[in-house]
Amino acid sequence: MSSTTSITGNSDINAKQVSRSLDAVWHPCTQMKHHEQFPLVPIARGEGAWLIDHEGNRYLDAVSSWWVNLFGHANPRINAALKTQLDTLEHAMLAGFTHQPVIELSERLGKLTGLGHAFYGSDGASAVEIALKMSFHYWRNTGRPGKTKFVSLEGSYHGETLGALAVTDVAIFRDAYGPLLNNNLLVPFPGPRAAANGEACCPACVLPAVAALEKLLAERHHEIAALIVEPLVQGAAGMRMYHPAYLQRARELCTQYEIHLIVDEIMTGFGRTGSMFAFKQAAIRPDLVCMSKGLTGGYLPLSCVLSSDDIYAAFYDDDTARGFLHSHSYTGSALACRAALATLDIFATDAVIDKNRDKAIRFNALAGPLAQHARVRNLRHLGMIWAFEIDGPGKNFAREFFAHALKRGLLLRPIGNTVYFMPPYIVGDDEFAWLVAQTLATIDDVGAS
Ligand SMILES: Cc1ncc(COP(=O)(O)O)c(C=O)c1O
Repeated sequence: MSSTTSITGNSDINAKQVSRSLDAVWHPCTQMKHHEQFPLVPIARGEGAWLIDHEGNRYLDAVSSWWVNLFGHANPRINAALKTQLDTLEHAMLAGFTHQPVIELSERLGKLTGLGHAFYGSDGASAVEIALKMSFHYWRNTGRPGKTKFVSLEGSYHGETLGALAVTDVAIFRDAYGPLLNNNLLVPFPGPRAAANGEACCPACVLPAVAALEKLLAERHHEIAALIVEPLVQGAAGMRMYHPAYLQRARELCTQYEIHLIVDEIMTGFGRTGSMFAFKQAAIRPDLVCMSKGLTGGYLPLSCVLSSDDIYAAFYDDDTARGFLHSHSYTGSALACRAALATLDIFATDAVIDKNRDKAIRFNALAGPLAQHARVRNLRHLGMIWAFEIDGPGKNFAREFFAHALKRGLLLRPIGNTVYFMPPYIVGDDEFAWLVAQTLATIDDVGAS
């Protein structure tokens, strides 16, 4: 499992790829100048849970390449499905046309969510835009054009396009664009920011946040179109977890005050929190569900919004303008839908959700030593997510931890002082134990401030 053995000895290619990339590529979510100190990692290929550079150095992809990869890189089953699709149909416009992969995928997603017609986008943020526009347009079509505002939770993250950013509450992404963003409404996060080690979120923890939500909805429901939430876990805010009781009360309040509940399953969907979708753990029925990331097993950009029949019906009319005229060129790409179908096939044939449940129990035991480390706080877990905070982080903790972890063969990307594991589901017990051991060593490498 060592990361440092050179197989091909091609350090020249590594260096050239880095230099060409820095000259030509503007990398996402990056202050490019930081690459003067923190080098880019050129990836030559992927294999299971590992990314491999041109020298043969291997990195365990412990964050599933930004939370998208479920069944490993270069997965033979998804590869085979894509190769077949490639020789049949790569893409056809979805306005006025349809095809087998998009029909089958929509039927299967409908069954999995209990919702109706599937509307496709590309990335997660485009799904959020679609859901927000659908909600607003529903109220307009049903004679309530004054419902123009959206409510989101403190610490929420729903993407980086302007509409999605307007319901996001993470300062580092939002602040520079403040003047461009619509004024929306924030309600408190339903749980403690950082519970003590091992402390579980409880139904009572959510009560103050429920009371605040109720007050806001009671006062301003006539101007509110929807509440949008990341169910059970806020990812970009630092893997903040909360109890399903909040979702249950939020559902009741949204129904009472005639407000849509939009559930953003972009990170949490496809088994990440232990159920196929996180909202299932609250046994609720949202009005709109957004999904992306794991939808294609981490292969191709595809996102989807599923809506209630009531919402769909409000757009169904002789009048073109009452229809949902939103579109993206690659809406419902046949290749991307095929990758999604292959991913759903793996879930079904391998009983992934059940197996992950057992796996998570074993991984929890293996993660135990982390809680014993003097600088680790609030080790928590949900489904296939583990997270904890580091005491006394230095100024550039996240970047330094990332760089030290790479030296040990780990791809970990802390959020502030929160370190988290979100591995592909194919990670084995040995690999997880190694991940824990190397993480402990990395904590010591980085040192305290
Ligand atoms: C909950 C949530 N919503 C939306 C997004 C945006 O997705 P994308 O980056 O694909 O636009 C993300 C991305 O991390 C997310 O975690």
